[in-house]
Order: sequence, then C-alpha cells, then structure tokens
Amino acid sequence: MSRIRCDRTPAWTALRALYDSRGRTLDLRQAFAADDGRFERLSLQVPHVFADLSKNLLDPQIQGQLTELARQCGVQEHRDAMFGGESINSTEGRAVMHWLLRHPQGAATHPLTPYVQGELGQVHAVLADMLAYAQAVREDAAITDVVNIGIGGSDLGPQMAVLALDECVDHGKRYHFVSSVDGHELSSVLRQVRPQSTLFLVASKSFTTLETMTNARSARAWFTAQGGRDIARHFCALTSNVQAAAEFGIRTTFGFWDWVGGRYSMWSAIGLPIAIAIGPQRFRELLAGAHAMDEHFRSAPLERNLPVQLALLDVWYRNFHGFNSRSVAPYHSGLRRMQAYLQQLEMESNGKRVDAAGQALPYATSPVIWGEPAANGQHAYFQMLHQGSDVIPVEFIAVKKVAHDLPEHHHKLLANGLAQAQALMLGQQDPGGHRHMPGNRPSTFLLLEELTPASLGALIALYEHRVFTAGSLWGINSFDQWGVELGKVLAKNIEPRLSSGDAAGLDASTAGLLKRLRS
Ligand code: F6P
Repeated sequence: MSRIRCDRTPAWTALRALYDSRGRTLDLRQAFAADDGRFERLSLQVPHVFADLSKNLLDPQIQGQLTELARQCGVQEHRDAMFGGESINSTEGRAVMHWLLRHPQGAATHPLTPYVQGELGQVHAVLADMLAYAQAVREDAAITDVVNIGIGGSDLGPQMAVLALDECVDHGKRYHFVSSVDGHELSSVLRQVRPQSTLFLVASKSFTTLETMTNARSARAWFTAQGGRDIARHFCALTSNVQAAAEFGIRTTFGFWDWVGGRYSMWSAIGLPIAIAIGPQRFRELLAGAHAMDEHFRSAPLERNLPVQLALLDVWYRNFHGFNSRSVAPYHSGLRRMQAYLQQLEMESNGKRVDAAGQALPYATSPVIWGEPAANGQHAYFQMLHQGSDVIPVEFIAVKKVAHDLPEHHHKLLANGLAQAQALMLGQQDPGGHRHMPGNRPSTFLLLEELTPASLGALIALYEHRVFTAGSLWGINSFDQWGVELGKVLAKNIEPRLSSGDAAGLDASTAGLLKRLRS
C-alpha cells in the first residue's frame, strides 16, 4: 500500500496555521472556564481504560484538524492493511500480526484472508501446547525457580507483566529475569537456585542475541557442572529459530513467527513465564483484554478512537509544540517496569529518521519516553516537570480498585496523582518569585478500574496501536530496528581486543579506554 506522509497533506498546513493562530497560546485554565463540557467531551471510555484527555492543549478545532490529518495520512487504510496480514514491515518484507496472537478462534470480527486464517490455526495450536506446559510446570512442585533468560522484547514484556499481575501470581515458585550480559545478573540468580529445582527459559526470537546466548551457555555450563543431567526437563526455548534451539541442545521449544516483532511478542511463546506465573486461564484473560482493544482500534471512528487520539497528541506535541519527551507516571507499584517496556515499544519502533521509502524526514519522530513509579518521581524529578525550562507532557496511569486492605494509602496515592496533574495545569502565581509555576503544562490521565490480566492486556495493546498510529502519521516503518545493529557489529570487533590489547584502527578515544581497561 502507498503511504502518505503527514507533512504532505493539506491538514498539516492547516495545523501549522492553527498552531500559530491559537495552539501556541491555548490556555488550559481559560479553556476549562469557557467550556463546562470540556471534561466529558475530551474523555473516552474504551475497553478496560478510561482516558481523560481534557488537560491537553486541544480545542475542538485543533482536535478536528488533527483527526483530519489521520484521515488524510490514510491511517485507517494502513491499519486495515495490518489487520489484513499485508507485508507492511516493508524493509523486512513481513506482515505485522501480533494482534493475531490474541485473536480468538472463530471470532466473527473481520474476515481473515486464507493466509491469516492458516496462521491463526498455528497460533492456537502453539498456544494450547504452551499453556498445557505452563500448567504442568505450575503443578510440578519440584520446580521452585523459573529463570527467564532473554533481553529486550524477550524480557521486558514478561517481566513487566509478572510484576504487574503479582496478585494472580503463584508464589509457590520464584521468577527470575536475567537479561544483561553483565555477569553480576546471572551469577546472582545462580547463587539463589539449585539445578534440580530450576527451569531455565531461553527466550530469544532470533536465538542469536549475544547477551542471551552468552547467558544461556553459562547457565547450561553451570547446570552440568552442578551435576544437572536432564537438559530436556530443565531448559526450554521460546524462539522463532527452532533449529538453533535444537542445535543448542534444547528439546522443549515453543515457536512463533517472523510476523511477531520482538517488542510485540509478550502474547506469543515469549509470554510463557507469564503463563506459568498466573496460569493458563489468566493468560487467556490477558489475551482477551488485548483483543478487546484491538477491536476498539480496528472499528471505532477516528474521533473516538483512543490509540489514534493519543498518537495525534504525540504528533501535535512533538512536531508543532516542539516538546521532545513524554514522562510516564504510573500510580501503582505493580507498573514499575512499565516505563522500561514503553521505552522499547515506542523508541525502538518510532525512533527513526527516514520514512518508509528511505527518505530523510524533515521533522522529529519519537519523543524520549521516561519516568518512574510516580509516587517516587514526585520526590525526585517532578520539580523539573513543574518549574523546569522544558514543557514535558505527563501521562498519569492510575488504578481505581487495589488489592491491598490499606485504603488510606490508596486515597493518599490517588490524591497525589490528581494533585500533580492539577498542579501542572493550574500552576501558581508568584510573579518574579521562586515559587512561581507557570502551569498550563499538559497531561493525560489513564484510569483502570482494576489491574487485572484483562486490563493490563488492554493497556499494552492501547500503547501498541498508539505507536502504530504515530508511526503511520510520521510515514515511517515502526517494525524494524536497524539502528541497534551497528553497535552489535562493533562490539564483536572490540571483544577480542580486550584480551589481545590490539588497538589498531580504533579511534583515539576507544583505544585510550581499551588501554585503561587493560592496565
Ligand atoms: O537488538 C534489539 C533486539 O533485536 C530487540 O528488537 C529484541 O527485542 C531484542 O534485541 C532481543 O532479540 P531476540 O529476542 O532475538 O533475542
């Protein structure tokens, strides 16, 4: 399908004019004073997520024109191409079908092509096998520790979800995540486990990633050195490179497909640690929550389509207001790896400087995504959000019902979240003084009824589709990641030099550091 870049549409030109005439000076306090219905008009209830967009630098005209931009860029056609199984990952010639991993069999949603239908059959076959295996591991009292060895998408999703769904987790076992090649990580886990009671999950889409393969080899060496015999029982591979896993000596493997990007893979076999931790039924609920969001994205009109509206805000802030980062502020300790997960999802997908045809872009793309669980962030970097020289849109994520019985804590937590969003918007008058806060700083408030597998699934799918839409508007391919390859190649070149000391051909800085490291 042909793509239409945002800067080549009439809507882009109209938005430029709108920004100059009213966007630049829009004042949230005045906007609320002038419009009693602003909160209702700018909030959306979608599956499992309520979103208040009213504290964003929008008015009906701006929002209408942004939505028109999505229309003119062909976001709907691009979305339909994804749901139709077309090869929209143009640089790798692959379809993009992580949504199919949560598509129920026989669902009467949209007609699937014979190719997609065939893939769906395989998805459900692997899912059934994997969930049966997860259940067997859950029932196997001799296995006390599950160690996931994987990095990037083969780590962040499972780790984030196991932490977030702690209430559903079987605490009869311990879950460890080893990602970095920094030997401290693996050796710290190996100190805590015993070979006869440990299951190692080697998670790697490619089964070639340096960190994962180094950790997997060291784990296998430790296992045999400790007298471990039964590799088949204690090692399991989660990969789309089934042959490499077999060559490594792993007999139990759950596969997935090249149309699942690493950072979109927690719904595939990569989700096995989640399924072991929360059980097959809850894992299916996670998938169902994500599917509900897929359906919202696929069928809601652009005006009421939450992933689309969030992506349009991203473009409005990045390309018109010039804001270059977004802070994510979860008010739930279970979401403490959410920012790391979103950093990969958004920045690896949309951190691109050329369009899908390879032409250099004249505008900025992915903002920097950053943050911490916000109760802590408030006592650290929120100072900058309120009084710093940059305007940084904040995304609050809060949960209405919690699983603990300390209601006073929850009221205080929620009050803080609401107060921070309010303070960002209202500011404080102390002209010329140190207490002055300009206010008019935008934020979005996402609210979940409860943090459950279904609501987490919906929240993550919401972000996936928002990233898709922003990438679609920017005209880029959100599904490759060539930028991470050069560093890998250079590391291969440098590694032997750490032993040999050979600095020939290196730049002076790298050569100087190498010398210091060897001295
Ligand atoms: O180097 C980046 C990356 O390819 C990510 O996109 C991916 O999630 C991660 O490495 C891990 O890759 P794999 O699952 O193939 O080990």
